Amino acid sequence: MGCALLLNALAGLLLVLLCKGSSVHGVEFGHLPDNITVLEGESVTLRCRIDEEVTHKAWLNRSNILFTGTDKWSLDKRVTLVNSSNSDFSVHIDKVQVSDEGPYTCTFQANNKPRIAHVYLIVQVPARIVNISTDVSVNEGENVNLFCLAVGRPEPTVTWKDQKYGLLSEGEFLDITEIKRQQAEDYECITHNGVAPPDQRKVKVTVNYPPTITDMKNLHGYLGKTAMLRCEAMAVPPASFEWYRDDHRPVESDNTLQIKNEKMRSLLLFANVTEKHFGNYTCFATNRLGTSNASMLLFRRFFSLILCPIMSPPTPPRPLDVIPRRAGLAFPSISPRQLLSLAFGH
Ligand SMILES: *[C@@H]1O[C@H](CO)[C@@H](O)[C@H](O)[C@H]1NC(C)=O
Ligand SMILES: *[C@@H]1O[C@H](CO)[C@@H](O)[C@H](O)[C@H]1NC(C)=O
Ligand SMILES: *[C@@H]1O[C@H](CO)[C@@H](O)[C@H](O)[C@H]1NC(C)=O
Ligand SMILES: *[C@@H]1O[C@H](CO)[C@@H](O)[C@H](O)[C@H]1NC(C)=O
Ligand SMILES: *[C@@H]1O[C@H](CO)[C@@H](O)[C@H](O)[C@H]1NC(C)=O
Ligand SMILES: *[C@@H]1O[C@H](CO)[C@@H](O)[C@H](O)[C@H]1NC(C)=O
Ligand SMILES: *[C@@H]1O[C@H](CO)[C@@H](O)[C@H](O)[C@H]1NC(C)=O
Repeated sequence: MGCALLLNALAGLLLVLLCKGSSVHGVEFGHLPDNITVLEGESVTLRCRIDEEVTHKAWLNRSNILFTGTDKWSLDKRVTLVNSSNSDFSVHIDKVQVSDEGPYTCTFQANNKPRIAHVYLIVQVPARIVNISTDVSVNEGENVNLFCLAVGRPEPTVTWKDQKYGLLSEGEFLDITEIKRQQAEDYECITHNGVAPPDQRKVKVTVNYPPTITDMKNLHGYLGKTAMLRCEAMAVPPASFEWYRDDHRPVESDNTLQIKNEKMRSLLLFANVTEKHFGNYTCFATNRLGTSNASMLLFRRFFSLILCPIMSPPTPPRPLDVIPRRAGLAFPSISPRQLLSLAFGH
């Protein structure tokens, strides 16, 4: 029977496809098979209208018979005949699957002449990320390899973006060699195939590094007044702080001195500066990757340097409130020892 039906024929058959909720597609016999596009999971009706008296009719999926007349050959519950009548021989596919993609054929015999029409069903799947790297935490200098696996029909594109520079790379893998602390951020994977809005997900990359003390200042204190020493550190994870005095004694809070630890800095708050507060304070900022220290002075304002013009050197001294200690920057015209003896008066 199939052989007879598959013989060539000319006109009279109109194959119409009805996509759920959308327009009606039609192919008249003799044209190239139309491509009908349907989303996976939706349903589709392939409509075959017959305008003459027929003896045999059949629907085929590739070369497999779905129906001959009203006899169902297919075992698939999703496939049903709708509106089977003398003039309408339409087949309905529920919850379309990717495997349903392919050529479908409506064919019948009228006046002993076979008629045949094809349609090509294309099943699309929106681009979707199916697996992506989890958030990572690495140490500075390590390599980071991120992946983002996507599926979809047609084959989706996958791109990686970051907030600062935009497009970073195309493809499922993003490799960052010897990551720097500035590269710690959310990396976004975007996949797109034009079927539905892009799918996107983010991976948070944390870069750990040991503390660096970024702000510390010597400070002149006035007897009976308040004063504040500050130690600020960049670190991931955030640093914890400790303070020590000249003689390596830990600094402890009391009613005249309060240690205030914040996320990125620690403050020494002097409520009422007295003689015993003047000195050299060392701040230690520590996280699990390392420790950094910096020392700073709370020194007594020494007015005579400024008030006695005859004693002053030819060029006026630099202000005493900033003494860069690190990076080999020595105080230009006065040694620390001289400064201390000036500042503390002993
Ligand atoms: C149907 O799609 C195929 C590729 O999937 C293409 O080669 C062909 O030209 C399309 N036919 C029509 C009628 O659009
Ligand atoms: C079934 O036939 C009726 C009347 O011919 C028509 O209005 C309706 O759209 C058809 N339904 C399908 C799914 O073809
Ligand atoms: C069409 O044929 C393919 C291949 O044999 C099969 O996997 C699929 O389930 C069939 N679809 C329908 C709607 O019959
Ligand atoms: C995602 O990928 C990882 C690494 O390849 C694997 O261990 C995990 O099982 C995958 N998860 C899923 C849901 O496929
Ligand atoms: C600061 O301390 C001195 C000496 O203990 C005291 O005489 C003075 O009243 C205090 N000043 C304030 C503002 O508490
Ligand atoms: C303080 O830091 C310096 C480098 O800036 C280092 O040489 C020294 O050992 C540190 N001191 C302590 C007690 O860790
Ligand atoms: C302050 O103390 C630190 C640590 O003990 C020391 O390295 C530094 O030289 C001292 N500063 C001055 C000005 O004495």
